Amino acid sequence: MSIKEILLIPDKRLKMKTDLVSSITKNEHRLIDDMFETMYDAPGIGLAAPQVGVMSKIIVMDCAKEEDEKPDPIAMINPEIIWVSDELNTYEEGCLSIPDYFADITRPANIKVRYLDKNEKTIEREAGGLLATCIQHEIDHLEGKLFIDYISRLKRERITKKFQKMAKFEAK
Ligand code: NI
Repeated sequence: MSIKEILLIPDKRLKMKTDLVSSITKNEHRLIDDMFETMYDAPGIGLAAPQVGVMSKIIVMDCAKEEDEKPDPIAMINPEIIWVSDELNTYEEGCLSIPDYFADITRPANIKVRYLDKNEKTIEREAGGLLATCIQHEIDHLEGKLFIDYISRLKRERITKKFQKMAKFEAK
């Protein structure tokens, strides 16, 4: 296993759509292991493949973040949301590709998601609470969508400029 470099905005790959995974091989298993290791190391509660530069529909999550909770690693391949509740929920979200920035984002409170697990088994599960938000945030990544796309344009431009400046500084 190895820790991958996490891409930061304004990297263009974070704004691109990803490809469906057509077969789940050793490569995908290795990528999933690396993504978990990268996510736990960061630390974060979710990571999508494009954040490590792989343009495939793969996400990993572990929303058991309280210290007394058992780890709950979940990997989803080709996930799609097949139902959302009318009820909404607001969480303060962050993203490993936009470090140290947080904003309240409102999304459906409950969802149903269909995906393949790493043994190529189709799973359907309902989720609520933090997990529902996390799944929606990570699936957005697979469509090139970031949580800052939900905030006002003014705030988004401000945060994007800040990261553009940092990227230029680091490139020097
Ligand atoms: Ni994110």
